[in-house]
Amino acid sequence: MSKILLITSSPRGTESLSTRFATEIANGIRMQSGGSLTVRDLVANPAPHITQDYIKGRVMAPDARTAEETKAVEDAMELVDELRVADVIVLGSGMMNFAPSSQLKAWIDNITWPGVTFSYGTGVPQGLLTGKKVYLVTASGGVFSEGVYAPFDFQTNYLLHVLGFIGLTDVELIRIEGTVQGPDAAKAAIASTGAAVQALLAKVA
Ligand SMILES: Cc1cc2nc3c(=O)[nH]c(=O)nc-3n(C[C@H](O)[C@H](O)[C@H](O)COP(=O)(O)O)c2cc1C
Repeated sequence: MSKILLITSSPRGTESLSTRFATEIANGIRMQSGGSLTVRDLVANPAPHITQDYIKGRVMAPDARTAEETKAVEDAMELVDELRVADVIVLGSGMMNFAPSSQLKAWIDNITWPGVTFSYGTGVPQGLLTGKKVYLVTASGGVFSEGVYAPFDFQTNYLLHVLGFIGLTDVELIRIEGTVQGPDAAKAAIASTGAAVQALLAKVA
C-alpha cells in the first residue's frame, strides 16, 4: 500500500489543467494500490515565503531559537515530513510567466534544506529524499517540449532539476501544453494528455 502525496499549485482554481490531471493520477493510483492520499493544496493552504526567522532558525539548536524562528522551522518541517513519509508524490504545476507559480516556489524554498533534504557532506550535493516515485504534471499555454520556446522552459526544467537535487530522481513527466493556441489545439492537448494519463494508470495497475 502506497502513501500518496498530491501537491497542487496552480492559482487557476477549477480551470487548472495541472491540478485536474495531477488529481486524476493521484486518485487513480490510490484506487489501484489501496493506499492513503494526502493533499497539499498550495493555493488554499500556502507555504509561507521564507524569512530570516526560517533561514537563521533552521541552522540553530532548537532550544536557541526565538518563538518566531521555532514557528518558521516547524512550519517548514511539516512540509518536509509530508514528503518524507510519501512513497508516491504527484506534483501539479502550471506555468506562470515562464516559471512555476510563486506558490510552488515558496514551497520549494521551504523544503530545499541543507542537512534535511540535501547534503554537502560528501563534498558533492547529495539528495536525501530517495526511493520515491514522482509524477510531475506541468501545464503551459505555449509549447515548450520542442521548438523555438524550448530554451525558455524555466518551469519543467527547473522542477526536474530541483526535485533531483533533493533526491527525487525517479520522475515521470506528463506535460499538457499548447492550450492557448486556439480552442481546437486546447481540445487536442486535453485529449492527448487524458489518454497519456490513462495509459500511465494502466501501467501502474
Ligand atoms: C498569470 C499567467 C501567466 C502565464 N504565463 C504563461 C507563460 O509565461 N507562458 C505560457 O506558455 N503560458 C502562460 N500562461 C498560461 C498557462 O501556463 C496555462 O493556462 C496553463 O494551463 C496554466 O496551468 P494550469 O492549467 O495548471 O493552471 C499564463 C497564465 C497566467 C494566468
